[in-house]
Amino acid sequence: MNFDEWMRGVLARVETALERYLPDDETEPKRLHEAMRYAVLGGGKRVRPLLVHAAGELTGATAQALEAASAALEMIHVYSLVHDDMPCMDDDALRRGKPTVHVKYDEATALLVGDALQSQAFVALTDEAVLDVRAQAALVRELAHASGSLGMAGGQAIDLASVGLTLSRPQLETMHRMKTGALLRAAVRMGALAGASPEAEALRALDTYAEAVGLAFQVVDDILDVTTDSATLGKTAGKDAKDGKPTYVSIIGLDASRTLAAQLRHEAHDALALFGGRAQRLAELADLVVNRVS
Ligand code: IPE
Ligand code: IPE
Ligand code: MG
Ligand code: MG
Ligand code: MG
Repeated sequence: MNFDEWMRGVLARVETALERYLPDDETEPKRLHEAMRYAVLGGGKRVRPLLVHAAGELTGATAQALEAASAALEMIHVYSLVHDDMPCMDDDALRRGKPTVHVKYDEATALLVGDALQSQAFVALTDEAVLDVRAQAALVRELAHASGSLGMAGGQAIDLASVGLTLSRPQLETMHRMKTGALLRAAVRMGALAGASPEAEALRALDTYAEAVGLAFQVVDDILDVTTDSATLGKTAGKDAKDGKPTYVSIIGLDASRTLAAQLRHEAHDALALFGGRAQRLAELADLVVNRVS
């Protein structure tokens, strides 16, 4: 199977799983459920679920376990996007080519969509029919840690506190590793942990891979914000400079940012050497993250 075929298969399964793990919009409160589904379904590149699947294939995780882990992680990611776009944060009107949740609905609904998606993620992850209790606990801990104040939410706090400031390179890296890297790293770890317990050495190699891909992801996001138009991105281009956000582009420039992304792609590939051809999907996903156009 080539990469595109593999990816199409995973994307279809992830969409079905998300559909299944979200309450339907006939269930009260209908408006909240409709808004949750509006935010999650039918959009996004689903990079985190792809990473979950690629890592899980290495440890022989079942398709159902990977679907549950993917759905949970994507729900947390979407919650982070819905809140990121709110007027009190980045104040964005466009996401995944559609009006943002607070524009389409209202601010209180957007707040609650984020809250409810966060909770629903842990409902999906604790599906007893799919994961044994030990695996559930390990995955819950990974996801909670990656999304909390030491991960995504903490990185977002640093992001907001840094508007108009010039961060040092290490400060910028820390912010990126937290706000974006943490959930991408969790994707790889959760996929692996959903299968047979990986050896410590394998988990360390996967971590090195995931750290590189996680940082590369936000470096490329910063690059695309200045190089790509809103229609292609599906979100407002040029927003970082306009809002005075410190980014890789603002701090080291566009060329050095591109060089760094390429370097991180190599680091990710190198980390996979231990697995040989078995990690082909992860290698291809590192390429996808760095070479993407939106
Ligand atoms: C955007 O994430 C926000 C960041 C963490 C940089 P994605 O680029 O993965 O957004 P979707 O899920 O494809 O919309
Ligand atoms: C978003 O970073 C990180 C999270 C949502 C956690 P950005 O603010 O750069 O993401 P975009 O560019 O709006 O997608
Ligand atoms: Mg932001
Ligand atoms: Mg934003
Ligand atoms: Mg951005």
